[in-house]
Amino acid sequence: MFILGIETSCDETAAAVVEDGTAVLSSKVSSQVEVHHRYGGVVPELASRKHLESIVPVVAAAIRDSGINTDQIEAVAVTRGPGLVGALLVGFSFAKAYAYSLGIPLIGVNHLEGHINSVFLESLAPPFPFVALLASGGHTGIYYVTSHTTIELMGQTRDDAAGEAFDKVAKILGLGYPGGEIIDRLSREGDPRKIAFTRPYLNKSGFDFSFSGIKTAVSLYVHKHQSDHKIRIPDIAAGFQEAVVEVLAFKLINAALKKECEHIAVVGGVAANSGLRHKVRRDAERQGLKVYIPSVKLCGDNAAMIAAAGYHYFQAGIETKLTDDVFSRAK
Ligand code: KG4
Ligand code: ZN
Repeated sequence: MFILGIETSCDETAAAVVEDGTAVLSSKVSSQVEVHHRYGGVVPELASRKHLESIVPVVAAAIRDSGINTDQIEAVAVTRGPGLVGALLVGFSFAKAYAYSLGIPLIGVNHLEGHINSVFLESLAPPFPFVALLASGGHTGIYYVTSHTTIELMGQTRDDAAGEAFDKVAKILGLGYPGGEIIDRLSREGDPRKIAFTRPYLNKSGFDFSFSGIKTAVSLYVHKHQSDHKIRIPDIAAGFQEAVVEVLAFKLINAALKKECEHIAVVGGVAANSGLRHKVRRDAERQGLKVYIPSVKLCGDNAAMIAAAGYHYFQAGIETKLTDDVFSRAK
């Protein structure tokens, strides 16, 4: 079954064609980074307008690259939420019109379930059940996944998402937007032991997170050492990254141990982080756990993961009506 996936929840216009929820025939992502860069974050109205410009060319390119014809597409899967409402409406309205004109089903997908299903696009996918850490710019949580569509929330951030903390710290350090990739790169030149930033919630039971405290600690540190010529930005980046990575990896592994679950996954934009990938693999190995982390291009927002989740919704008989609306917050 060929499914066209569409994703416009934030600042990436993406389209993909996926076969049977596993084989990516094409995946196009048009990033809006240059539009939002000068503002240091995503400007919702500009995001909607850019999606409107890009949606037709991006979908056309995904279909062209897939090597299949339009009449072979059997359903359209599209992100329904959570995300920026104006941005979601562009993709959702487009997908409705597309499905309506071809007389094929429309499948509205929860963006977070899309990220979790991204692990099934790799040749080595986890069996059920598995415990997943989803860390992105808008969400950070730990989930117990017993089927493609049965996902139990075990804990989540009380304030900032992990990716949001990376972006805010990059802004404090004057490094630009989006910050995750820049901090990841700079961390390799720094010494993570030079500055020990706080590890919030590390010693708290349960699987909730809090990242706004680390961001404040970095801000205070920078303020205090402003005139100190010996402070090195790479050391601050490395110290901050290590603090975040330690908390994420610790909670994920403990969640798996609590559930007596042998398989763990890391998904979402922050799963691209080299420090996190390395630490989770190393710590999991010590506990005898098996780790599944998608390739970097499937960690950030993309439409292949939406098509994959959509396939499993379809198999489970979950439908979306042409009169349905989008949602902005996680359900
Ligand atoms: O999943 P995603 O593309 O969009 C959301 O659903 O939010 O995640 C974007 C987030 C941004 O905050 C970005 O800074 C972060 O993922 N990110 C990273 C890295 N690459 C992207 N964070 C840490 N290290 C990275 N290498
Ligand atoms: Zn995302």
